[in-house]
Amino acid sequence: MNIVILAAGQGKRMKSALPKVLQPLAGKPLLQHVLETALALAPKAEPIVVIGHGAEQVQSFLVHLASLEVRFRNVKTVLQKEQKGTGHALLQALPKLNRLLPTLVLYGDVPLCSKETLKKLVRLSDGAVGLLTHRMQNPHGYGRIVRDIDGNIDAIVEEKDANLAIRSIQEINTGIMVLPTEELGKWLKDIKAKNAQGEYYLTDVIAMAVRAGVPVRSAQAANDYEILGVNSRSQLAELERVLQHQLAHALLENGVTLFDPHRIDVRGELNCGKDVWIDVGCIFEGAVTLADKVRIGPYCVIKDTQIGEGAAIEAFSHLDGAKIGPANRIGPYARIRPGAELGSEVHIGNFVEVKNSRIAAQTKANHLAYVGDSIVGSRVNIGAGTITCNYDGVNKHQTVIEDDVFIGSDTQLVAPVKVGKGATLGAGTTLTKDAPSGKLTVSRAKQISIDWQRPTKAKSGSPKIKKTSRK
Ligand code: UD1
Ligand code: CA
Repeated sequence: MNIVILAAGQGKRMKSALPKVLQPLAGKPLLQHVLETALALAPKAEPIVVIGHGAEQVQSFLVHLASLEVRFRNVKTVLQKEQKGTGHALLQALPKLNRLLPTLVLYGDVPLCSKETLKKLVRLSDGAVGLLTHRMQNPHGYGRIVRDIDGNIDAIVEEKDANLAIRSIQEINTGIMVLPTEELGKWLKDIKAKNAQGEYYLTDVIAMAVRAGVPVRSAQAANDYEILGVNSRSQLAELERVLQHQLAHALLENGVTLFDPHRIDVRGELNCGKDVWIDVGCIFEGAVTLADKVRIGPYCVIKDTQIGEGAAIEAFSHLDGAKIGPANRIGPYARIRPGAELGSEVHIGNFVEVKNSRIAAQTKANHLAYVGDSIVGSRVNIGAGTITCNYDGVNKHQTVIEDDVFIGSDTQLVAPVKVGKGATLGAGTTLTKDAPSGKLTVSRAKQISIDWQRPTKAKSGSPKIKKTSRK
């Protein structure tokens, strides 16, 4: 099958510098949704994207996509230099089409049409023209499906060219269609721009097919949202809710507990094991994996992260590019950044930041700490206010903390530095040299106590401020 995705239009109403088909829906550009469905329907097809407005941006997005996933390497583009209508757009792709196979036309801005609906349309067309039509209470703006008294499709008439009788028709053209390619080639060349918009309408091929005696059949989508296009920010927001609702219900079906399916956003792939609990207000981005019995507290943002079995992420935690070990307890208010890898039963508490560090089993940093560019052993206790000073203003350096170390509160470890196994660092230490194993290392001014009288309040009130002369 040939697949052509029309995506050259401007999307003026979005009021954006980003081409419309690159606007994100559930974290993915609209065009990517369409491509994924197209390739799920026909994995061996080489979809052709007709680009025009923002062609360079769309092109580089497609190159990026192909570099991420092999299945997108077959996607081709053709440039429609001027946007002269949908018929003209499809004409640009014609030389690349295999004339012996049917052609499926999709729109880059209709992202949620399902594979099942398209399959139904393709199956029904079988040498004929297949049109995806839809009944609408308010068909305003759409092309109308004109049928004869026997109910056979005669033509599609655009709203702007329609008389009152035709405008009252509630069956509309979704734009998605399957066409016999050999005939399509002839029809496309015959389209004239003699209409209210002065455009080459793809929809004109329907009347041509009828005249040529090629049957025109119609199919309908199972759900209303499948045929919805994105022309404005409100329509995009509406589809975002539709898709989030679907994603949430798919999670529920798979046995995930969502405290409120209306209050979760998945902008990527979220894979969950058994008995996962997710509280309200969480956002999942990129590829996130939650193993069995993971519990996510309210208002967490979790991106490109794997979380091990039985781990609990408490409220308001932010995780990005991390590997969280089994039975960890993270947060509330934790920030785990890229390159953090935590072993099992690690505890990371409130206002603790971990970046590019390996932390082994049963280590705890329960309050107010920064652990960056570090290797931390097992059963280490990192006291409140501990900072690994990893950056000298130019380069980053590593801190190594071996097993069973105890770090007193408010300690600075000035990297590169190493703390040997079983060492204890006294509270307030500024560690600039390696600390030997098994010993207490402390750097702090000696504590003294002196007899002292507190000052008493002066009678004259506020002090006099000397005037200083300025040059
Ligand atoms: C089109 C249909 C209309 C249908 C409606 C469904 C025609 C003439 N009309 O109208 O019957 O009800 O879609 O939403 O086909 N595009 C190009 N190049 C162009 C023009 C458009 O690539 O020169 C692309 C757009 O990017 C978009 C799609 O084609 O993805 C539809 O174009 P749009 O201008 O939105 O068509 P409508 O006027 O809405
Ligand atoms: Ca449109």
